[in-house]
Amino acid sequence: MASQRTLILVKADAVVRGLVGELLSRFEKRGYQIIALKMLHVDEARAKRHYAEHEGKPFFAGLVEYITGSPIIALVVAGSDAIEGARATIGATNPIKATPGTIRGDYGQTIGRNLVHGSDSPASAEREISIWFEPSEIFARPNEIGAWLVDA
Ligand code: RTP
Ligand code: MG
Repeated sequence: MASQRTLILVKADAVVRGLVGELLSRFEKRGYQIIALKMLHVDEARAKRHYAEHEGKPFFAGLVEYITGSPIIALVVAGSDAIEGARATIGATNPIKATPGTIRGDYGQTIGRNLVHGSDSPASAEREISIWFEPSEIFARPNEIGAWLVDA
């Protein structure tokens, strides 16, 4: 078990549908701590940086258009094995394949409107956190959280 932090985006479709509170609540109820949070309009440069691994794929333009089209919520959550755990809470990329009980399995229909992003590895998490947050905007270190909330 490792204390980790991971980047979560509540994407535009979830914000427009009024699901922000519900989705943040799922991470909190699982025991992850929100250690950074902001609402913002994403410009094209930041969108392309975030989705750099997908550049050249057929869905890339749509991905950038989607994330820049309407305000989103960016947050960092921390906790025990938070990267894998958050992705389990989010569910499979395509909501049709996502298990009911996951965010995408409960609220999504299509892969292009799948509500939430979660980092997929420790390297991605650190790269992505630095795209969305200054160090001064992050309010705790993971090891401060594990000590009283997660470790037992
Ligand atoms: P995310 O990055 O948003 O957490 O999603 P993921 O890891 O489950 O999926 P990833 O492969 O990283 O894809 C990023 C986002 O691109 C869109 N996508 N569309 N049309 C397609 O075949 C396709 N494949 C991926 C999805 O919105 C996905 O979340
Ligand atoms: Mg991904």
